Amino acid sequence: MKKLIKRAKKILLGNRRENYTLPTNNKLYPAQWNWDSAFISLGYSYFNIELAIQELETLIDGQWKDGMVPHILFHDKNTKYFPNHTVWNCGNKIASSGITQPPILVSVLKQILDNNKINKEQKNKVKKLIKKIKKYLEWFIKFRDPKNTGLVSILHPWESGYDNSAIWDEPMSKIQVEKNLKYKRGDIKVVNAEQRPLDEDYDRYVTIKNHFKRNNYNPKKIYKISQFNVVDIGFNSIFLRALKDLVILLKNFEQNFSNLTTYIKKSEKKLIKLYNSKKDTFQNYDVRNKKKINVPSITNFFILYADLKDELFNKNVIKSLKKYNKGNKYIFSSIKPDHKSFEEKRYWRGPIWINCNWIIYQGLKNKDKFFSKYVKKKNYRINK
Ligand code: DGY
Repeated sequence: MKKLIKRAKKILLGNRRENYTLPTNNKLYPAQWNWDSAFISLGYSYFNIELAIQELETLIDGQWKDGMVPHILFHDKNTKYFPNHTVWNCGNKIASSGITQPPILVSVLKQILDNNKINKEQKNKVKKLIKKIKKYLEWFIKFRDPKNTGLVSILHPWESGYDNSAIWDEPMSKIQVEKNLKYKRGDIKVVNAEQRPLDEDYDRYVTIKNHFKRNNYNPKKIYKISQFNVVDIGFNSIFLRALKDLVILLKNFEQNFSNLTTYIKKSEKKLIKLYNSKKDTFQNYDVRNKKKINVPSITNFFILYADLKDELFNKNVIKSLKKYNKGNKYIFSSIKPDHKSFEEKRYWRGPIWINCNWIIYQGLKNKDKFFSKYVKKKNYRINK
């Protein structure tokens, strides 16, 4: 364990740039990514609380005037990443992408504050952060759930963080790819193409992105016209948990939260309906094409992380989770191995992701102590 912590520290500090940290130290991701940054901050908090707060401050510095926090911040303009800052051509104080990512930073911040004592100066910093984070979550309610249904949409697979997950196969197959698309992928020069999304995926990613750009990333407009509009269980679970954690933070910092509680109740009711315990199926929803999506992805189990107040429901979900990777050496594969879309090595179509395991563990630990311990132990083994 000590060795593992030493290695983790070394990697984090090695990936650190001025006031922010790269998700990897190679050429694949030479910028600051929204949800990666939150996990990075959590890592720092175990040995340097200042760095932990700074990582989140830098992320929030990229916030747009309307409240959105972009999925990528391009602090360094001199990189070979595609799509880079000129391709997106947007941002507020910092050049950025024009879409967002799961707002896990809220719950990470709460966890950091639960586990650490902070001084007065740090408290002031956190107070400022919380105000901006509130604006960020309100942005989701306003622009990603304009009909106030209780569930928010994502408008690009990159917004989920699980880019080429099989959950998106159906909605992505409907995208009308732009004619004469011209772009060059940078990722497959750095990583084996067998482990990355396909060219046809990229054509669609770029098409959606270009469409948003032509509409100046206007949040109201792109919700209406986007070719991709999906209500995803994993994303909504992170969002609901973020709202709940934010309310606690706002209370602790004596700020107003009353406008969030009605939405939380609505969201709680809606989310629970997306799992059918009799059939043991999760149902994501393709809003654009009005179709249900049935793909066994580990991200569906993030519903445990949402901490829904229904013991029987949670029990059934855990029962299903126990069968998910039954007999497999490692847990949890991004897609269930017996599903037709499973590909052992391709990015989000099979490989295990440590952040998913962490989310699942956090969702389990107050519901099934024994199983949560098992998950934690198995998780450490991956790193050996
Ligand atoms: C990438 O470039 O692979 C990223 O995941 C997009 O955010």
